[in-house]
Amino acid sequence: MRLSDNINYAAKLIQDGRVVAFPTETVYGLGANALNPMAVAKIYEIKERPSFDPLIIHIADIRQLEALTNCRDKRVYQLAERFWPGPLTMVLPKSSKVPEIVTSGLPTVGIRMPNNAIAMELIQKSNCPVAAPSANKFGRISPTTAAHVRKQLSNVDYILDGGKTNVGIESTIIELTDTGCKILRNGIITQEELETILSIDDRTNHVTLSAPGMLKSHYSPAKKFMIADSEMFAMDKSKAGLISFSGKLESGFKNVIKVSSNANLTDYAVNMFEAMHLLEDDNDIDLIIAEPVPESGIGNAIMDRLRKAAYNWRQDLV
Ligand code: TXA
Ligand code: MG
Repeated sequence: MRLSDNINYAAKLIQDGRVVAFPTETVYGLGANALNPMAVAKIYEIKERPSFDPLIIHIADIRQLEALTNCRDKRVYQLAERFWPGPLTMVLPKSSKVPEIVTSGLPTVGIRMPNNAIAMELIQKSNCPVAAPSANKFGRISPTTAAHVRKQLSNVDYILDGGKTNVGIESTIIELTDTGCKILRNGIITQEELETILSIDDRTNHVTLSAPGMLKSHYSPAKKFMIADSEMFAMDKSKAGLISFSGKLESGFKNVIKVSSNANLTDYAVNMFEAMHLLEDDNDIDLIIAEPVPESGIGNAIMDRLRKAAYNWRQDLV
């Protein structure tokens, strides 16, 4: 079948209340009609996601935003103008049209317009806003290819294959406040870019990330995972895999996945989840070590993911 036939097929399934995995520019999403509570319930079931963790709604037209939120704040339109379609999710007061199950009972709803032609066509043809979390099992590694979705989720009605996603990490999530905005999750749209439009509250405090799903542990490979530190040099690395960024730590490892050929942070974001999947699937290793990066700009988003991936395993060590 041609891609356009596949998109039509996926859109028909969404109209029928079924669940479809689809590519966005960030990661693959697991989508259903956001206005159909029974369809949305299936997303939670397939992902094994706790009901307290709300979903993002994806739109293809700014007019859909008006039906989903009561917010008429002009900053929303300035942000949309600058960053949509793109990897920015805005958390806004919800309208009564949005079912409680989408927002886990919260009075707010997360909305974004993805910068991916397949996702946009799917939403348009579905003729409804599409609720979608990342298409992985809850707490596990996010998918950047259709194969990653297939690996984790067996009972999705359809996986729309659009190749590898080109941003690689999830959207930046913000919540508007009276004075500016709070960043709830870091992404490739950085606070510096957001500050061209509005001020950021708590600019220096990255620890207060407060999206309900922002648990300490997330993105977790099924193998021991750690961030490289000075102790690593003395370790036996013959059964370890490295997610390599600078190229300086590679000696002694059984498997090395380079995420960038020239130490570029955007490349790290694009390739980090794929590298985690590759090393998780490599039977010759039992430990994954990822190279850290300085925490500024996109580095914040990368280090958030690495810390959450390492969290469970760090508990093991103490
Ligand atoms: O790039 C992305 O955002 C991807 C693609 C598929 O669009 N989606 C994604 O969804 O990452 P998910 O569900 O894996 O992460 C969404 C996060 C969750 O941590 C959730 O708690 C938070 O967004 N969130 C959703 N609605 C919210 C709300 N009303 N208030 C605060 N946080 C919210
Ligand atoms: Mg997710």
